[in-house]
Amino acid sequence: MTEDSEVRWHEVPEAKDLWQGDITDAEVDGEQVLIVHHLDGSFAAFQGVCPHQEVLLADGTWNEDAGTLRCSGHEWEFDLTTGVGINPTGCPLYRYLVEEDEGIVRVGIPQDGKSHYNRYQEA
Ligand code: FES
Repeated sequence: MTEDSEVRWHEVPEAKDLWQGDITDAEVDGEQVLIVHHLDGSFAAFQGVCPHQEVLLADGTWNEDAGTLRCSGHEWEFDLTTGVGINPTGCPLYRYLVEEDEGIVRVGIPQDGKSHYNRYQEA
């Protein structure tokens, strides 16, 4: 684990053998995190619960070719290459820093004392 003044890095064992094109969820430093291993080999990490009503996003329908995920709760859809909301728009997922080195995946948890997930706010 590497530490600096802003982010603390945590190894995510659940992601070690994650196949390209697959997703998993993990609890990292008390936070629910969704790990994505894209088909191009890159990793991404987002908040693990839906901004709508906090259903686990890893239980949703994942389309690895399109890089999109449809929540199992009420079918909201997200682009897991960027974290933006596709339907509806305007509710992006919180995105964590992530790094991978020789199969070891680490997620950076900001040490800012804030909540690291976005919630949908009705207008
Ligand atoms: S909880 Fe995800 S769409 Fe409602």
